[in-house]
Amino acid sequence: MKLLQDRIRKDGDVLSSHVLKVDSFLNHQVDPLLTMEIGKAFAERFAGEPITKVLTIEASGIQFAMATALALGVPFVYAKKKKAVTLTEDVYSVPVESFTRKETYQVSVSKKYLTADDTVLIVDDFLATGAALIGLVDIIGQAGAKLVGVGAVIEKSFQEGRGLLEQKGVRIESLARIESMSPEEIHFIEETAT
Ligand code: G4P
Ligand code: NA
Ligand code: NA
Repeated sequence: MKLLQDRIRKDGDVLSSHVLKVDSFLNHQVDPLLTMEIGKAFAERFAGEPITKVLTIEASGIQFAMATALALGVPFVYAKKKKAVTLTEDVYSVPVESFTRKETYQVSVSKKYLTADDTVLIVDDFLATGAALIGLVDIIGQAGAKLVGVGAVIEKSFQEGRGLLEQKGVRIESLARIESMSPEEIHFIEETAT
């Protein structure tokens, strides 16, 4: 997605070869017009799939799930992230290890909002190590729902997330795929002209 790549080049801040700061337009301050375009782009890439629900994880996936769900005309659900959940019968839950924060948290979704009748598209801001996304894939499995794929706004292709998801047979659509980056320049893997 050219609009997104241009914006990352203009306003993204490469903190190290592994960390890209985009909090002036994507995940702290948020540009609503860009966000809506991102939602439309995911809806187009997964057009033709019988999606009934978009799933993301709090916090920074929420606006992209919202924009995508609006474009698809379906609801979205965001998984909650807590230090510990009271394990009750009414939530699907999975432990996820955060590599950036070196701690494990529980990701959970109410059984009311995800069932075997659902066909789900996962959306998130970053595809990095894949830990959070693999947690969401697990939750969809617990629900017996069908997964059509993962939409990532930014993929850091040099990290292991894509490979781990592909091993599980998951279709991935990333709107900006970063091959490598430094404070001087960002290299994208070009897929489309738009
Ligand atoms: P992921 O690939 O499944 O996202 O998992 P990973 O454990 O690698 O990422 C941990 C958190 O760090 C995620 O946010 C992810 O969005 C974020 N992240 C990963 N790489 C970058 C980066 O280069 N820049 C920025 N700004 N964020 C990055 P989270 O734990 O879901 O937290 P939240 O911010 O959504 O609340
Ligand atoms: Na995230
Ligand atoms: Na994040």
